[in-house]
Amino acid sequence: MDQYIIIGVVGSGAMGAGIAQVAAVAGHQVVLYDNNAAALEKAKANLTQTLQKLQEKGKISNADDVLKRFTFAGEINAFAKCGLVIEAIVEKLEIKKTVFADIEKNVSDTCILASNTSSLSITSIAAACGRPQNVMGLHFFNPAPLMALVEVIPAVQTNPAHVQPAKELMHRWGKTPVVAKDTPGFIVNRVARPYYGEAIRMYEEGIASMEEIDNAMVQSGGFKMGPFTLMDYIGHDVNYVVTETVFQSFFYDPRYKPSFSQKRLLEAGWLGRKTGRGFYNYNEPGTADKPVDNSNNTQIVERIVAMLINEAVDALYLNVATATDLETAMTKGVNYPKGLLQWCDEWGAEKCLAILDGLYDSYHEDRYRASILLRKHAKEGKRFL
Ligand SMILES: NC(=O)c1ccc[n+]([C@@H]2O[C@H](COP(=O)([O-])OP(=O)(O)OC[C@H]3O[C@@H](n4cnc5c(N)ncnc54)[C@H](O)[C@@H]3O)[C@@H](O)[C@H]2O)c1
Repeated sequence: MDQYIIIGVVGSGAMGAGIAQVAAVAGHQVVLYDNNAAALEKAKANLTQTLQKLQEKGKISNADDVLKRFTFAGEINAFAKCGLVIEAIVEKLEIKKTVFADIEKNVSDTCILASNTSSLSITSIAAACGRPQNVMGLHFFNPAPLMALVEVIPAVQTNPAHVQPAKELMHRWGKTPVVAKDTPGFIVNRVARPYYGEAIRMYEEGIASMEEIDNAMVQSGGFKMGPFTLMDYIGHDVNYVVTETVFQSFFYDPRYKPSFSQKRLLEAGWLGRKTGRGFYNYNEPGTADKPVDNSNNTQIVERIVAMLINEAVDALYLNVATATDLETAMTKGVNYPKGLLQWCDEWGAEKCLAILDGLYDSYHEDRYRASILLRKHAKEGKRFL
């Protein structure tokens, strides 16, 4: 995939427009297509404004030159000369399958088709195509121009020869690619689940308040945002739906079980910051900044971090990604203060295992089962890195 190929982007929403911007700034001609004319107009106006701002800040030398690389298209046949088309439309499998099958009919035999899906199977999207060997996942994070991580996901059918060129292209776009197996949530959206799930569990059980948990994870854990603040920021329409999809895709493994607290927020339309109310009420300024008891900080952080470490270790055990890519994904994709395998090495696998086994003994729930790899490392006193 060389620098001179024309890049197609399907969907001009938050992610599509961001990905298109990254490709154009990297020097590519970009065809941005949306089936909603108003959305496309909005993307064009936003991109014009963003590129102007980047020029004022000295990040790009000429906004007009970058804008000239764009074709804003309302017809799918505009992709005819593209070498890579990245899809970022609505997160619905049947719609993505139809769109992939349509795009394939409008591009050359060698064109690579990539999906930016957060939680759907790349393999099932590829199965809708006549050339499934040319389909892969390229999962950017929001906002795409700012977040460095890109998960490169070969489907079962993907020609393995396409992986390295995709990684190289992402490097040229200033991104940090990691390779993930086509499993639910790939790396980040799988390994990060306990950050939300275990926090809600402790809150529902009355072990600590939302404010206490948020405060503990930031002040003692070193995370940039506490779990409740973060879920409100992401929006429950996105965060809850990813949790539910991952849970269903893992054949209802209790480790990923969604919560009623969050489901009710979604049902109420309390989607978080964007609607003024989620776990916190943003119409009452200062509610998220109440003074809190921090005597339980260690217990809170250890329980959530042990669950996160267990996910990372199990993902390593099941070959979802390499140890290096797991560390890169969690530090660059969700800005964790350090990689989870490093965290485990610093604690010692034995300590992490003791926390999980303690929970398992108390609850007798499969949710708290430790990965066999963690158990082995604890027994042998081995490190992960
Ligand atoms: N928002 C995030 O944080 C985030 C992060 C990573 C990945 N993703 C994934 O990226 C994809 C897009 O998410 P988003 O947040 O940008 O959505 P969005 O709703 O902001 O934008 C989707 C765009 O796709 C267009 N669209 C819908 N159906 C279409 C079709 N059939 N043909 C052409 N255009 C169509 C819509 O008009 C809209 O402009 C989803 O698969 C999502 O899971 C989202």
